[in-house]
Amino acid sequence: MRRLLVVLLALLFTAGTAVADVQVVGGARASIAINPWVVHLTDPNGYQFCGGTVVAPTKVLTAAHCAIGRKAGQLRVVAGREDKKSDAGVVATPVSVWIHPQYVSADRGEDLAVLTMQEPLPVTPLPMAEQADNDLYQPGTPLRALGWGRTSENGRTSRYLMEATLPVLPDTDCSGAYPQFVRADMFCAGYPEGKVDTCQGDSGGPLVAAGKLVGVTSWGEGCARRGKPGVYVRVVRYADDLRQVVGTAPPAVVEPQ
Ligand code: ARG
Repeated sequence: MRRLLVVLLALLFTAGTAVADVQVVGGARASIAINPWVVHLTDPNGYQFCGGTVVAPTKVLTAAHCAIGRKAGQLRVVAGREDKKSDAGVVATPVSVWIHPQYVSADRGEDLAVLTMQEPLPVTPLPMAEQADNDLYQPGTPLRALGWGRTSENGRTSRYLMEATLPVLPDTDCSGAYPQFVRADMFCAGYPEGKVDTCQGDSGGPLVAAGKLVGVTSWGEGCARRGKPGVYVRVVRYADDLRQVVGTAPPAVVEPQ
């Protein structure tokens, strides 16, 4: 009996180490130089709680649930900073917040918000998926998820920008996992066995393929659980809504003053 206990404890211990070793729930470090448009959101004290994507020089797309109930002046957009503990890049306070008018809660859809900045952010924007990019939502398409969120379900958020590759899952897998999933304006991505996933703090951040913003991290049950993939906003469904808010002007070249 005692020996069994020792074996169990040893097993638990090794399992614990293995979990602590994986990054962004199964991800790896990512470079901000290669992904300049990914940003994180903090409160005025510098506490990071969500991600976002620069989609036009003065516009940051994030999740509605990241912005709801916060005044523009209480939000900070941190651009160009891979290491949260460094002072690289810029910190900007939005001048206004647009939340999708139909937004109720993340699992009901329309989990989108656009933050407008006074000054252009000094980073290259990422274009949003349009109708011509519909193929990117085919099950199996590998999408890159980026963020500073938790690296395990109950862990802490990441100091460094992390990325993981998550294949698009068939909608039937998504509705099997979540009774709430009834709408084609979301999609699931991940692996049936879990292990790799976005997590708390990644919300609002990008899922990217072919140089386009394909998804926005929205919700999921726990993180990296078997049969409980992450759910993402299907950006292409909102292309028209977003064009109104973000505008269609090509990215302006930021000239030094
Ligand atoms: N809602 C979370 C956030 O606010 C993101 C959840 C993603 N969950 C998941 N299992 N993929 O950061």
